[in-house]
Amino acid sequence: MSLDKNNSQYSKIAKLFHWGFVLLFVYGVAKQVEDINQLEDNAFFRFEIIFALIFLFLLIIRLIYMKTTQKTSLPEDTPRIQKISAKIIHNGMYALLAGTALSGLSIGFLFWIELKEGILIDIIIFFHELNVNLLYWFIGIHIIAATFHRLKRDGVWSSMVPFLKEKKLK
Ligand code: HEM
Ligand code: HEM
Repeated sequence: MSLDKNNSQYSKIAKLFHWGFVLLFVYGVAKQVEDINQLEDNAFFRFEIIFALIFLFLLIIRLIYMKTTQKTSLPEDTPRIQKISAKIIHNGMYALLAGTALSGLSIGFLFWIELKEGILIDIIIFFHELNVNLLYWFIGIHIIAATFHRLKRDGVWSSMVPFLKEKKLK
């Protein structure tokens, strides 16, 4: 597959959302709650909740923008199974990003109404951690797939990634 068969390119806004979320997610993981007792600190608690709300709000805007204005840069003759896999991983990442923020907010809500321990909060924390760990797997597969496209030189990598771009054939 050569580059000239695929001219699809994501818009600047699409790239800003994609790479902005990479930074936001790395930041969210770096400052993660390591112990539930940290939530006793009011300023920390408020910051976590505001961060998760902004994260969720931007994610919804991103999803609407991407679904209404952009399309995948996978070449048209990509095998069906590969197209479906890409869809599952992309939509899965949206679901898991939303799930992480929503389960985090649920922990915050239970904490706020003084249900700070017990089976309910333990279950939600379990889901929150499961969500985050699944997300790591999905992101790992996504990066391997992007690298595979870079090696194939089919234009998919360069449609989103600003470095190590393929040279244009024409
Ligand atoms: C988008 C926002 C959020 C991100 C990216 C995020 C990320 C994480 C990560 C990476 C972990 C560790 C998972 C693991 O060890 O397997 C974690 C654990 C946790 N998070 Fe979040 N989180 C978010 C929002 C929240 C919110 C809003 C709250 C509550 C106010 C919260 C409360 C917790 C708690 C209680 C744990 C478990 C800590 C423990 O091990 O005892 N998170 N979060
Ligand atoms: C937190 C990490 C990441 C997440 C959550 C993520 C998520 C996504 C999502 C949801 C899409 C579909 C388009 C969209 O709706 O924006 C996408 C496309 C893409 N991403 Fe990522 N991404 C991440 C990191 C990366 C990295 C590190 C690379 C490359 C090194 C990469 C390369 C690409 C490429 C090439 C596309 C276009 C795929 C296509 O058109 O089918 N992504 N990403």
